[in-house]
Amino acid sequence: MAALWKALVLVLLEALLCPADEVTLKPKPARKPVRLFTDDDLRSYNGLKEGKPIYLAVKGVVFDVTKGKEFYGRGAPYNALAGKDCTKAVAKMSLDPEDLTHDTTGLAEEELQSLDSIFKDTYKAKYPIVGYTARRILNEDGSPNKHFQPEDQPNFSIKDEF
Ligand code: HEM
Repeated sequence: MAALWKALVLVLLEALLCPADEVTLKPKPARKPVRLFTDDDLRSYNGLKEGKPIYLAVKGVVFDVTKGKEFYGRGAPYNALAGKDCTKAVAKMSLDPEDLTHDTTGLAEEELQSLDSIFKDTYKAKYPIVGYTARRILNEDGSPNKHFQPEDQPNFSIKDEF
């Protein structure tokens, strides 16, 4: 009888000290943090400072284009694209200052298709992703955009974390 009581007390103690939830809960796999760039953050990577990496964004995805210094560095032909989200310029193959913007309003269907292929075949294939513009990660009111998905970039060991 004493043994039965002892067993009962042990079972009760275990139930009290180790609630079932605690035993069965498994930690969720942590999602890798991504770096958010404001326009000012991005501007400081405009290729003009010797020794500093060069970044640009296309479709809100920030790429480290430092290895394309001959295109984007100081005095290089596409330096105007560096340090900003230059989506429209890339879509139109234009260096016109008014096209140096993230805003794709008014682009023709062929320009949007061209943008997608340059995004995929040049930028994603050649340069590592280092983050995303605030516009891509947040809604206009500053709340997190629940539909945000980091880009898949299988050729690189992910650099879009901070
Ligand atoms: C006379 C006009 C142009 C010529 C002859 C020209 C020529 C070239 C050449 C030879 C490349 C090199 C490709 C390589 O080595 O991988 C290139 C790349 C490129 N061009 Fe142009 N281009 C011109 C105008 C433009 C304009 C106006 C833009 C505006 C956005 C532009 C955007 C680019 C981009 C984004 C790349 C890819 C650079 C990279 O690989 O990071 N090009 N262009």
